[in-house]
Amino acid sequence: MLRFSTAGESHGQALLALLAGFPAGVAVDLDFVAHELWRRQQGFGRGGRMKIEHDTPDFIAGVRNGISIGSPIAIQIANHDWKNWSETLAVAAPAGTAARPVTRPRPGHADLAGALKYNFPEARYVLERASARETAARVAAGAMAKLLLGALGIEVLSHVVAVGAATLAAATDVTQARLRALAAKTEILLHCLDADSELAMKAEVDQALRTGDTVGGVFEIRAFGLPPGLGSCANWDDRLDGRLAQAIISIQAVKAVEIGDGVGAASSAGSNAQDPIGYDRDAHRFTRQGNHAGGLEGGMTNGQELVLRGFLKPISTLRRPLASVNFETREPVKAAYERSDVCVVPAAAVVGEAMVALTLAQALLEKFGGDSLHELRRNYNHFLEQVRAF
Ligand SMILES: Cc1cc2nc3c(=O)[nH]c(=O)nc-3n(C[C@H](O)[C@H](O)[C@H](O)COP(=O)(O)O)c2cc1C
Repeated sequence: MLRFSTAGESHGQALLALLAGFPAGVAVDLDFVAHELWRRQQGFGRGGRMKIEHDTPDFIAGVRNGISIGSPIAIQIANHDWKNWSETLAVAAPAGTAARPVTRPRPGHADLAGALKYNFPEARYVLERASARETAARVAAGAMAKLLLGALGIEVLSHVVAVGAATLAAATDVTQARLRALAAKTEILLHCLDADSELAMKAEVDQALRTGDTVGGVFEIRAFGLPPGLGSCANWDDRLDGRLAQAIISIQAVKAVEIGDGVGAASSAGSNAQDPIGYDRDAHRFTRQGNHAGGLEGGMTNGQELVLRGFLKPISTLRRPLASVNFETREPVKAAYERSDVCVVPAAAVVGEAMVALTLAQALLEKFGGDSLHELRRNYNHFLEQVRAF
């Protein structure tokens, strides 16, 4: 079983990703992992912090001489801002009270709910962990999952389909090759496949920047090369649709998830919402007319391309803050403002890729097992033969 967890606070020493159950013998391309971390930091509308942080993956355990060795993998990503916080967030008990308290909770952030939950008089510790800085660790772990999937010919990619009111032109051709080229770019504006749509998206961010507001949007994840049968129809919590939805909605600020036609399917006729089945006798395989289902039927992959979308609300830290209440005085105040992003949809897409890759890698290892890539590949290929011979 592949297990994954993260630790670390936004302004602490470092973020940590821990990955257990990862098979031995997977080649680890360190540049690829670093590039994935870099991609998460990009996009028009990110805050000042992205300019001071250049995330570098530091492999502490589980990878030796360029391959995974079957032991837990630990990846550390240093917070370069720690030097400015080492007193505020010192590990040892402070001489006085810890500095930089957050006493004006931001509507939409974790501040109020977290302070009440943990019984803190202010929200500093809460926001330190609730912050999406944590997603750097997810992306590092997700990069490892991508390397594992890639060894079996499975690829997870993404693009942005909406920022605020600006949407991707409907006629845009979304192919694996185009998404791969997008992922390889060394300059990222809004991670969009169509140049005109991207400019309209940029205008949405410009408008938010001008008015002290923030803007949300929608990213799409696609996975290619999947076999049928990952996940299960047998038990509710084994269903891959549910697991993928949780993986996506667990990303900070994501408020909805769509699979395939998603919300649109609810208002379609049944005859337009499914993908009729055919059979290609020469290729000895089943074929489908279309992909309304987004590659999942009955909680299992069906061998088609996986299509998922994550919907982000606008970021809740506003330069023109909303009404709040001071924790100490209970008087009405404006909510706190701390250096913040204005649009994070491209970054969230990269995190979405990571979460989908981790979930698919988990499902893959559940079905095919194997302590080494060699063993996993053998089991996997046997199953593909079984499907071909069906
Ligand atoms: C990549 C990324 C970066 C984010 N950056 C910020 C930020 O700078 N400021 C902020 O208020 N929220 C930011 N968020 C969103 C908050 O972390 C999130 O809204 C908060 O933790 C509350 O969780 P919820 O919105 O899921 O309820 C970011 C989210 C993502 C995915």
